[in-house]
Amino acid sequence: MTNICTFRTLSQVCVKRKCPKVHLKELRKLYSTHNNKPNRVIFSGIQPTGIPHLGNYLGAIKHWVKLQNKPGDIYYSIVDLHSLTIPKSRTFMRTSILDITACLLACEINPERAVLYQQSCVPEHTLLSWVIGCLVPVNRLKHLPQWKEKQMPSVDGGGHIGRYTYPLLQTADILLYKATHVPAGDDQAVHLILTNEFAKSFNRTHGHFFPQTQIISDPTFARIRDLRNPTVKMSKSSQSENGRIEITDYDDAIRGKIKRAITDCTSAVTYDPDNRPGVSNLVQIHCGLSDITPTEACNTAQNMDTGAYKTLVANVVIDHLSPIRERYFELRQDENRLKEILKYGNQRAAKVAKENFNAVRDLLGIQL
Ligand code: TRP
Repeated sequence: MTNICTFRTLSQVCVKRKCPKVHLKELRKLYSTHNNKPNRVIFSGIQPTGIPHLGNYLGAIKHWVKLQNKPGDIYYSIVDLHSLTIPKSRTFMRTSILDITACLLACEINPERAVLYQQSCVPEHTLLSWVIGCLVPVNRLKHLPQWKEKQMPSVDGGGHIGRYTYPLLQTADILLYKATHVPAGDDQAVHLILTNEFAKSFNRTHGHFFPQTQIISDPTFARIRDLRNPTVKMSKSSQSENGRIEITDYDDAIRGKIKRAITDCTSAVTYDPDNRPGVSNLVQIHCGLSDITPTEACNTAQNMDTGAYKTLVANVVIDHLSPIRERYFELRQDENRLKEILKYGNQRAAKVAKENFNAVRDLLGIQL
C-alpha cells in the first residue's frame, strides 16, 4: 500500500520538478522501511498434500488461528507450486487444494481477517524467486534438507531443479509481502536463515527494502511424533496410517490409533522426550490441545497408568477435532464457495504482491 502511494507521489514530484531521472538515493529512500518501524506482517504457507495431521495442526495451524487476534497483516498461502516438487496426479492436486482450503476454514481461519490464497494464482512469487536465484550462490542450497533428504539422485537423474530451488521460492513467498513474522515448524528455521541472509545482502546492494523475518514456533508442540514410531516426526508420508491422526479422522479411528500408540514398559506418566519418547508424545498432544504445560499434564495423570492416560488423551483429541471435522465436511460440499473464497484472497494477495514486486524491479533498474 505504502509503496504504490509513495511511488505515485514521486512521479508526481518528478513531473512537477521536470526532472526526467530519479536520483538513485532518492529512490532508495522512497522504498526504505528502515526509518519507520515496519508494519507487522505475518506470512505462512501450507502445501496441499492431503488432509493435515495433528502435527501440522499443533505445529502450525493452531498458531495461525491465534495470530488472527493480534495486530498486523496476515497472509496464509496454499503453496501449490511447492507441492509440485513431488509430482502428483491432476485429480490429486485439484482435490487437495479444495481439501486444504476447507480444512483451514474448519480450523477457523477467518478469510476476512487473513488473506487466504493460492500461491500459483499470484505469479509474482515465481518472478521474485527468479530474482533471488540470480543472487544466491548454487552451493548455498546444497546442504538444505529439502534437497539433501528428498533428491533421490538415482531415480531422477541427479534430482529435479525445482526441489533444489525450493528454498528460493519459499524466500520469495515471505519477502514478496515483506513479512516480519513466519509461524512455522522449527524444521523451517533453515529456510528462514536463508531468507534473512538474502534480505540483508539485497538491502546492502540496493538500499534497505526487505525486513528481517522472525520465525514463530513453539518447540514444545511443534514436534509431534509418529504414534507408531515416536523417534520420528508425525508425517503425511509415514509408513503406518496408525502413526498419524488426521484432523478429519472419526472418533473411533482416533481412539484406536491412540490405544495402539507405542509407549514403553514403565506405566507411570512422565515427560521425558529423550528417554520416553512415546509417552512424552502423548503428553505433548495433551498439552498442545489443552493449552497446559507438561508438568500440569503429568499432575493430571498422577494416578493413571499409560493405558488410562491414553483414554484421557483420546478424549481430549476427540473433543478438539470432532467440531473441526463436522465443519470440514459441511464446507467441503460447497466447492464453488471454496473457490470464491480463494479468488477473493488471490485478488487481495495479488495487489500487494504487484506493488512490492514493482518496487523490486524499480530498485533493480528493470522497471522503465
Ligand atoms: N516449506 C513449507 C513446508 O513444507 C511450506 C512453505 C512454503 C512455507 N512457503 C512458505 C512456510 C513460507 C512458511 C513460509 O511446510
